[in-house]
This record gives sequence, structure tokens and C-alpha cells, in this order.
Amino acid sequence: MTAVSAPSTGEGTAEDPGTQAQRRRTFAVISHPDAGKSTLTEALALHAEVISAAGAVHGKGGRKGVTSDWMDMERERGISVTSAVLQFAYRDQVINLLDTPGHGDFSEDTYRVLAAVDAAVMLLDAAKGLEPQTLKLFDVCRDRGVPVLTFVNKWDRPGREALELVDEVEQTIGLRPMPITWPVGIAGDLHGLVERADGTMHRFTRAAHGASKATSEVLEAERAAAEEGPDWERATEELALLDEIGAGFGSDEAMAAFHAGTATPVMFGSALSNIGVARLLDALVELAPPPGPRPDQKGEPRPVDAPFSGLVFKVQASMDKSHRDRVAFVRICSGRFERGMVLTHDATGRPFATKYAQAMFGRDRSTIEEAFPGDIVGLVNATALRPGDTLWAEEPVTFPTIPSFAPEHFAVCRVADMSKTKQFRKGIEQLDSEGVIQVLSSDLRGDQAPVLAAVGPLQFEVVSARLADEFGAPVKLDRLDYTLARRTDESGAAGLKGAVGIEVLTRRLDGELLALFPHKWRLQAVAQNNPDMLLAPLVADT
Ligand code: G4P
Repeated sequence: MTAVSAPSTGEGTAEDPGTQAQRRRTFAVISHPDAGKSTLTEALALHAEVISAAGAVHGKGGRKGVTSDWMDMERERGISVTSAVLQFAYRDQVINLLDTPGHGDFSEDTYRVLAAVDAAVMLLDAAKGLEPQTLKLFDVCRDRGVPVLTFVNKWDRPGREALELVDEVEQTIGLRPMPITWPVGIAGDLHGLVERADGTMHRFTRAAHGASKATSEVLEAERAAAEEGPDWERATEELALLDEIGAGFGSDEAMAAFHAGTATPVMFGSALSNIGVARLLDALVELAPPPGPRPDQKGEPRPVDAPFSGLVFKVQASMDKSHRDRVAFVRICSGRFERGMVLTHDATGRPFATKYAQAMFGRDRSTIEEAFPGDIVGLVNATALRPGDTLWAEEPVTFPTIPSFAPEHFAVCRVADMSKTKQFRKGIEQLDSEGVIQVLSSDLRGDQAPVLAAVGPLQFEVVSARLADEFGAPVKLDRLDYTLARRTDESGAAGLKGAVGIEVLTRRLDGELLALFPHKWRLQAVAQNNPDMLLAPLVADT
């Protein structure tokens, strides 16, 4: 299970980053928990023939897992805490699929992953439509200008009407739905899919519980009408309606709207039965954008064929107990990456040797020799690298850093056994730099009792478990009553000194001063009484 090598090209040279970028598709799946993201990931990989049988990716239900079940907590709770990367070949293209944790408490991690992709697949449960976590993640895609494809999953079991679902997408998130396939048969009684471009029907024979690819036969419209009767009639009527309202796909205008993030190609299927999954891969290859020029901090685009540049979007330690190390995941933005090349770490200006570059396939790793724009490289023992950092060669570039989410949960963290103070400090420092949690401190609280700030409370459990397991420093956490944070400055901090129920702390990672409030009413009152005080939201663009 190793990374695929780049397919050879007809034009240009195989090493030409511009040509190689054209054949990359780098994307993530966003969904509400239980919509079927793990199942779809397995099904995609199955179609791409990276793994021989579904079930090898996430290891649910006792199957062998190769991705993110690296922590006991994940196994116990059945949630995926860490993100994994899958790379596979499909139709002469190289697909990079970045996994995102489904649980809302880890949205910050998802946010970072979305900074590293060129497109996202929004996965909807046919019975539930748009769910809260999907909406939240979609907002991130919109903020970042990430084009979104929509896959309506679980059409093999009872659900809502297709028209109602596409209407919901339009009404709720204002994204123009442009179906490229349409179901024949209501949810729970799927016979096949109409291919809108040519009007044929792809009729499926269901695969046994996702164990192999579903087979399909292609029927011309006439035969489909004769054999499918009322179901076909209903599908064609619905399609005629879609044509009338101009929800078509295929024109240059439609492509531009999709790439601009104002329209979404919609497909239907069932990840579990492998229905519509190959169509989704085809759509990714045909419609999703390849890596393009990435704007730097000043808004100047770095072309894909410029010298090497990459963005660190994730840092993760101890993914596997047999490798007690720290991996920085780098999305290549431009140029050719060659193992061993010396890069510059933009934040420190120091050289960074890439001797230990790896391709990550879940838990499995293989040494990577070269990679191109859109690919993800894991740099092992990259202690200096932090999420949002830029690496470059030859021509300097600084990409905009990845903003942190606004924390809503706060707790004081103390070491349980004072003899482990050194380990505790080291652990806190490491988890802080990985971005597992935000660490805040003040002179008043001192070094021994930092305040941990989290987007979701499960992050506290991850921190406790890791401090105990990896650093041998069990901790006690005492929750604080604050629920929101605002960025302030020295004068704001001075103005808030002594204010009841409010505390100003310094975020260690970037030195930002954060004012913590118990609730929004307290914040509103303070803002009203001090109109000139800086009290800015933490993530500028959400
Ligand atoms: P997630 O990663 O988004 O959380 O979802 P996951 O793939 O784990 O899927 C959640 C549940 O939905 C699973 O059932 C899975 O089998 C089911 N599922 C996913 N895709 C489809 C589909 O196309 N059709 C149907 N009918 N079910 C689907 P489970 O019983 O919770 O887990 P498991 O024991 O089957 O693994």
C-alpha cells in the first residue's frame, strides 16, 4: 500500500511540475457524522484499486484499519481524531484524498485540511439533507473559495425526494445545484441513474454490502422507458423541470460558477453499494480544478511551475505507537519536490532538510522520492514546523497563515504529580505547536497552570490522554466558566484589568492577547461601555 508514482505523460516531461499539476486532483470530503464519509472513502479507494477490498481504510467493525485509529480513545468512541491522506491513481490522474475528522469538536483540524485542498465533496444523507456539521464545513469552503461537488448518499434506503434535496441546497446555502446524474426510482428503490449529458440510464446490480464494485449496464432512453415504466417517466419529468429552471451542467458558464464556488454539480448514489462512486471519481477528474497558482500573503499568485513551495497544514505526533515521532503534512503548492532537497522554513529563515520525506497512507508509510503540486508529503521529525508555515526553495514566498478557530471551552491544566513538571511542560509545548489545543497563559496564573482553549471539549480528552500516555504526565483539568474569546491589545488588557468575570491571557503560539468572557451579554456590555476598545473576533474570515 504505497503511494502511486505519477503516470507518464504524453506531453512535456514527467518531471515538469506544470504538467504534473494538471493531472492532480486534491480534495476532501465534508459531511455530518454518519452521512457515510468513511464508507465513501473506502468505496473511492476500491474503485481506484489501491486496496483490494472495501474495509481496509477505516477499520470499522473489526476490519483491518489503516488510517486513523491510532489512539485508544478513537477506538473506544469510534470517532476519527486524526486526518489521513490517501493517494491513488485513477484514469491517468493522481487523486489525493485528505480525510477530515467527522466530529465537530475537531473542526479546527478540518479547517486546516480545507486549506490544503482544491475541491471538496459535500456528502449528504438522502434522508437528512443538509445537517449542522455539513453547514458549518460548507461555510469554511465558501470562505476559502473551495469548489464543492455534492454527493447525495444512501439512495439505496428510504429518504427524501431528489427535487426537495436539490432545492434545499439552493435555498439553505445559496449554491446553484447542477445535477449531473439523476436517480431512477425513489430513495430506497434505486434502479439506476440517468446520465444527464446524454440521457442514458446506468442500471445497477447491487454489490453485496460494499464488498465489490457494483456492475452496471447502459440503457438507451427508449429501452429505459420500456423497461422502467413509471420510474423512468418520473425521472425524465423531474429532469425536464430542472432543464426549465436552467440547472444544467456542461457549459463554460456552469464550470466557471462551480469553480467560483457559486454552483455545485450534484450526483446521487450509495457509497455502501458502490453506486455512483465511479461517477463521482469521473466528475472529480473531469470537473474539479487541478492545483492552480496560490496567492501569497500579499495576494500575489505563486505559479505551480515556480520553484518548490509548500504549506504545512497539519502537524501530528505519534500516529502509531511504533513510530513515536512527529510528522508535518505539507501540501505542495508549486514546483517539484525531491527527497533530500534543502528547503527554507519561512517562519525562521532556517534551512530544512527533507531526508525523511514520506508518503502517508493512513498508518502505512513509504519513502517518497518526488512529488508535485497538489501532493501531500509527510516530513518526519519536523519539530520546528507548525500548521500554517511555508516552506520554499530558491524563490522566497510566504503563504497566508491558517487562522485559528475561536475557542469556546476553557480549562486550567495542572500536572497531577509535581515530579513530572518537566514532562508536563514539554508535552504542553508540543501539543500547542501541533495545534491540538490553544495554550493561554498569564503572569498571574504562571507556567504551572496554563489555560487550555478548545473549540470542542473532546480536545481536552485528547490532551489529557496524550499527556499521560506520551509524556508520562497525567493532568487535572478544571473547567472555567468562559465561553468566548476576543482578540484585544495592551490598552484593552489594561482597560479590562480587574473587571469581574473577565480575564485577559496571552496565546503562547502567536502572542495574541485574548480576552475571555463568560457569555455574549457580558461582552456586549463591555463593548458598549468601551466603544474604542479592541475586541475582535478570532477568525477574521468566518
Ligand atoms: P461517517 O464516516 O460519515 O461517520 O459514516 P460511516 O461511513 O461510518 O457510515 C455511517 C453508517 O451509514 C454506517 O452504518 C454505514 O454502513 C452506513 N452507510 C454509509 N453509506 C451508506 C449507503 O450508501 N447506504 C446505506 N444504507 N448505509 C450507508 P453503521 O451501521 O453505523 O456502521 P457499520 O457497522 O455498517 O460500519
